[in-house]
Amino acid sequence: MVFTSFKDAMASGETLVFGHRGAKDYAPMNTIVAFELALKQGAAGIELDVHRSKDGYPVIVHDFTIDATTSGTGRVTDKTLAELKALDAGSWFDASFVGAQVPTLDEVFEAVGDALLINVEIKSMSADTDGVEQVVADCIARHNMGERVLVSSFNPMALKRFREIMPDVMIGFLYSSGMEIDTESMMDGFAHEARHPYFEMIDADYMAWAKSNNYYVNTWTVNDPEKAKELKTLGVNCIITDAPDVMLEAISS
Ligand code: G3P
Ligand code: MG
Repeated sequence: MVFTSFKDAMASGETLVFGHRGAKDYAPMNTIVAFELALKQGAAGIELDVHRSKDGYPVIVHDFTIDATTSGTGRVTDKTLAELKALDAGSWFDASFVGAQVPTLDEVFEAVGDALLINVEIKSMSADTDGVEQVVADCIARHNMGERVLVSSFNPMALKRFREIMPDVMIGFLYSSGMEIDTESMMDGFAHEARHPYFEMIDADYMAWAKSNNYYVNTWTVNDPEKAKELKTLGVNCIITDAPDVMLEAISS
């Protein structure tokens, strides 16, 4: 089923499959080609990671540095968009992807925004902000994507800042057990629509607790077909995976 809004998708009760950083097992993560492949494989949506470039563009990279996934080195936030665009973001994965670029969030919305729901993960590790929440909000508004995105973060302060700017967009809190900082307690008393737990946190008790708190549950990163079936039976709303094709086949039966 194709959903026009994130809210409808979550409320449907279906277990959706989202491509983690695109179809990460098959294409260079967080590139347009990886997002288009997730769509081709039948994913309902994608998850991607966003930072603010030095000159104020929302750019899609996972790590806080560009070393692992591009031909360059250094922190994402120290680079201008032009500097990032000059890099090769494909050959580290496979020579056949040479020429893939670091995309902006605008480019992702233009390429797949009509066809896929988009979980925008804000990467932010500090208590203060470089303005990433504002550039993400501006981009969502520019493309009229407010109903088709959900913004998530490990950083409760980033979520609070984003909500202040764009209160109507769904948000989700990312976490796993054993995190260095007790971010979960920082979410107390702050209304949010979804929890994004690491999949090993989920069991029937977790799902009952989430339901009683009116939280949708979108989990990562699930690549094992048996685990996907189990999570569907437990009623998770979304499975974020590196292999959308494998997960879709697993949960279709
Ligand atoms: O949003 C789910 C997942 O992407 C969170 O962890 O490190 O892969 O961004 P990470
Ligand atoms: Mg992520």
